[in-house]
Amino acid sequence: MQFIKTQDGSYTVFNQKYQEHYHTISGALEEAFEKHVNAIGVKDGFHILDFCFGLGYNSIIATKKHKNLQIVGLENDIEIIKAIKELEVPSEIEKEFTYFRNLAEKLKITDDNNNTIKLIIGDALVSLDSLPRDNFDRVFFDPFSPGKQLEMWSRKVFQKVYNVMKPGAKLSTYSCAISVRQNMVAAGFKVLDGPVIGRKSPATIAIKM
Ligand SMILES: C[S@@+](CC[C@H](N)C(=O)[O-])C[C@H]1O[C@@H](n2cnc3c(N)ncnc32)[C@H](O)[C@@H]1O
Repeated sequence: MQFIKTQDGSYTVFNQKYQEHYHTISGALEEAFEKHVNAIGVKDGFHILDFCFGLGYNSIIATKKHKNLQIVGLENDIEIIKAIKELEVPSEIEKEFTYFRNLAEKLKITDDNNNTIKLIIGDALVSLDSLPRDNFDRVFFDPFSPGKQLEMWSRKVFQKVYNVMKPGAKLSTYSCAISVRQNMVAAGFKVLDGPVIGRKSPATIAIKM
């Protein structure tokens, strides 16, 4: 796996199939903190769904300064999970990554603060059907972009995600495409602008009403 340095000094990967980076090249770490974890907020004990886990930045960062998180990550490529072992990360999140570097072998790891990350390897659209309804407080929604992977951003997918979220739960994603937001609204979400980080347009926050 070839790592590519982003502008905040953290690393991402380029996916050959989708011809797209896993993160914005303006900063992988910044994207995880600002567009996901800080944008929707995390509290101790939350149940979190990481839809398209990849290198795990969003979930692993969420464990920082928190306890008793129950995180489920959906991912279909075990090779990117294996790459977590080799990923060089900034010192501010090295401790958190140290706990979860062996996820590819164990698939479920609990850290010293009783934060658990459990991975379900397979097509996220299928795995969604096995998750309990009204269960998640937060969702990090992070597939490749609608231009590259349109099927992940449909009304049907948002409806399935909506169903597994608790009332009032929040979802974060980097896309602000009008069609994406329309599909979210059609699924029942209230849609808000997320933070503007690394580019001109805002991210998106969707709330289950
Ligand atoms: C933009 S990257 C996610 C980046 C990730 N959140 C991180 O912090 O590294 C998209 C991820 O979705 C995964 N993926 C693509 N299609 C998928 C599918 N149908 N089911 C599950 N995972 C999928 C890719 O393998 C990739 O790891």
